Amino acid sequence: MTEQKPLTIALSKGRILKETLPLLETAGIRLLEDPAASRKLVFDTSRDDVKIIIIRATDVPPYLQYGAADIGVAGKDVLMEHGAEGIYEPLDLEIARCKLMVAALKDAPPVTGRIRVATKFVNTARRYFASQGRQADVIKLYGAMELAPIVGLADRIVDIVDTGNTLRANGLEPTELIATISSRLVVNRASMKTRFREIQDIIDGVAAAVADKRGN
Ligand code: ATP
Ligand code: PRP
Repeated sequence: MTEQKPLTIALSKGRILKETLPLLETAGIRLLEDPAASRKLVFDTSRDDVKIIIIRATDVPPYLQYGAADIGVAGKDVLMEHGAEGIYEPLDLEIARCKLMVAALKDAPPVTGRIRVATKFVNTARRYFASQGRQADVIKLYGAMELAPIVGLADRIVDIVDTGNTLRANGLEPTELIATISSRLVVNRASMKTRFREIQDIIDGVAAAVADKRGN
């Protein structure tokens, strides 16, 4: 019998990685080396049949969509922005919780007519304002969205809000909630069919770890 290729799990660097590794560990999948101390992108794990790749958060959906990874972890914000075509989302990991919000300069007047919105979540922002029947010109930025209203680049921003400190520090306030966000375990739809048992076992193990952490 030919040996199956290892299952590939795509994780993003940053805050999601820190919170995901303990869940995977409880589920019996442990990295064999510390990714923070390595320039490697592909990591062996305590299971011969599971490899972990560590990439940027926004790159997780395309890796999943095209089957380069079987399983992944991504923020709901990133999944919404991508569209998550070809991706199954079986489990809420209840980590990296935050909100995707519209924000404006404190006490900014309402905008009549077309609204200018700066964000890295251009698809989500367009969809949100369209769903409200509001006309929006959406400007793509890659960071420091909070600056846009201060310098007159935009009337509003669409960004992640957790404590609200970043908004406050820049004289902004949240005005509308678009979605509550947490990280999700995601699976390539084809892998879910062809490797059902192996993948379902991992989903069950991680689901138990999430429940354990929650305290039930
Ligand atoms: P990249 O650096 O690749 O552009 P990023 O800066 O969005 O990605 P992180 O800051 O690690 O990467 O965020 C990863 C995910 O964590 C986001 O997609 C979102 O779901 C969630 N997140 C972002 N900011 C916060 C926050 N302040 N508090 C809690 N969760 C957050
Ligand atoms: C995220 C997000 C906001 C901030 C919100 O940035 O882009 O700017 O957190 O959190 P708060 O409401 O608790 O202030 P992050 O810290 O990830 O830095 P980044 O700009 O590098 O993404």
